[in-house]
Amino acid sequence: MTALESPPEQTGPMPAEQREALLRMPGFGSLYSDHMVTARWTAEAGWHDTRTGPLTAFSLHPATMAFHYGQTIFEGLKAFWRPDGRHVLFRPGDHARRFARSARRMAMPELPEADFLAAVAALTRADRDWVPRPRGHSFYLRPFLLAAETHLSNRPAAEYLFAVIGSPARPAAVEPAPIRLWASTEYVRAADGGTGTVKCGGNYGGSYLAQQEAAAHGCHQVVWLDARERRYVEEVGGSNLFFVEGDRLVTPPLSGTLLAGVTRDSILRLAGRLGLAVAEEPVTLEDWERGCRDGRITETFACGTARALAPVGHAVTPEGEWAIGDGGTGPVTRRLLHTLLDIQYGVTPDEFGWLHAV
Ligand code: COI
Repeated sequence: MTALESPPEQTGPMPAEQREALLRMPGFGSLYSDHMVTARWTAEAGWHDTRTGPLTAFSLHPATMAFHYGQTIFEGLKAFWRPDGRHVLFRPGDHARRFARSARRMAMPELPEADFLAAVAALTRADRDWVPRPRGHSFYLRPFLLAAETHLSNRPAAEYLFAVIGSPARPAAVEPAPIRLWASTEYVRAADGGTGTVKCGGNYGGSYLAQQEAAAHGCHQVVWLDARERRYVEEVGGSNLFFVEGDRLVTPPLSGTLLAGVTRDSILRLAGRLGLAVAEEPVTLEDWERGCRDGRITETFACGTARALAPVGHAVTPEGEWAIGDGGTGPVTRRLLHTLLDIQYGVTPDEFGWLHAV
């Protein structure tokens, strides 16, 4: 199949046997459930035409504005299976509110929180059989909004298409392998006043050249430095970053260029359970290296919805590289990951009210 050919259209739900076989090892992002939810927005009618139907390809005119000017936003959130047959969504209200913030920044119409929640719940209910059961597995929901007006003018569109699709996923490795990070001193992800705080497509597309550079240096992801001084560590790939310093957990502050990760916020709140104090304070690349070399920083991990927590084993810069701890997965990273998974899988009580049954 070439890139321009569509995958064969699936008519009707996938047979149960085939679905069960695929669910055994879903990977990330390449399998899709049977349905999708869509809604439309126009200046005259507002939000309308909400429907849950079979997953099908969109038919869009080549002059659809999203193709040309990048007016697109998205979210990623997870649903988990419960032995009593219910399913729970993790912090869907926080994702709904961030989706609205992203829309506002991109001059797009805001989807009301209740409509966002209804859409993700409707898809989870329609595709309940696609929610994988084992610990670490989840149903990854991908709500997105795109400029759907057919026009070549360089301005906000007057028509939008909202959709939610679902993808069974197993990215949150229960024993994740440590990653190597490349500190990009040439490229930046976000600058003051830009779009770094929101989930717009361009933030991701604009990062791929640096990601290729990271791969060329044997690294999995890029560490982004601040745009002004190229000194302060901000994010990693599409995730937030944490440092373990004794009994303190340190993460860069939401200075106006970082995405306010829902997992980042969850970790900040869970830290107390492990007796850790939290600090949102700037960390320079130099501090990070020195701290690892003199033993002050014992662990570093990345976190995000899709990956949960990923330990960082090594950092690489154009000048050299260093190991974090012994280069493996540290005990704090492992305990925090399992504290989060225990809540998501219902092993420990949801004391923060993060789970939303559908
Ligand atoms: C997520 O963690 O949900 C993300 O947005 C990462 C995604 C780019 C794969």
